[in-house]
Amino acid sequence: MRSDLSRLVFGTSAIVVLAILAALTWWLQRTDRVIREANNATGGIATRAISIMMANGCAGCHTITGVPGAHGLVGPRLDATLATKVYVGGVLSNNPENLIRWIRVAREINPHTAMPSTGISEQEARDIAAYLYALR
Ligand code: HEC
Repeated sequence: MRSDLSRLVFGTSAIVVLAILAALTWWLQRTDRVIREANNATGGIATRAISIMMANGCAGCHTITGVPGAHGLVGPRLDATLATKVYVGGVLSNNPENLIRWIRVAREINPHTAMPSTGISEQEARDIAAYLYALR
């Protein structure tokens, strides 16, 4: 009786632990694939982007998923919806090269936008674009 109960408890816990491990493995593999795809599409390295965004004032104007202290409300939120948007900055079709361009020279693209041309390097913009596309 007692051992039936402990077998049941042990068996149930083992199943729960296995299910958690399977979910964790699935999630890690998905994250890894999404980051790899975003890096390939942009020629950037997503893991470098957080410090670049913190150093270049993006956080002052944008609330950015995963960037500490990025609670700005001047521009739109930069989050998992970015990859699915039709336009970047409301004017350019959303694709990697346009996003990279927008991040560097927004004012050249739309002289009326409140977003300044940031003057960051092309590689830095690629790294940021990779990060933003990997948020999905
Ligand atoms: C002075 C405020 C300001 C700063 C600094 C700023 N942005 Fe923006 N950003 C904006 C505004 C405002 C918009 C909306 C532009 C529009 O619709 O005209 C915008 C739009 C964007 C968009 C397009 C978002 C969308 O949903 O279409 C991206 C991407 C972006 N900014 C990234 C950045 C990055 C990366 C940095 C730092 C390198 C940065 N921004 C710095 C104000 C700023």
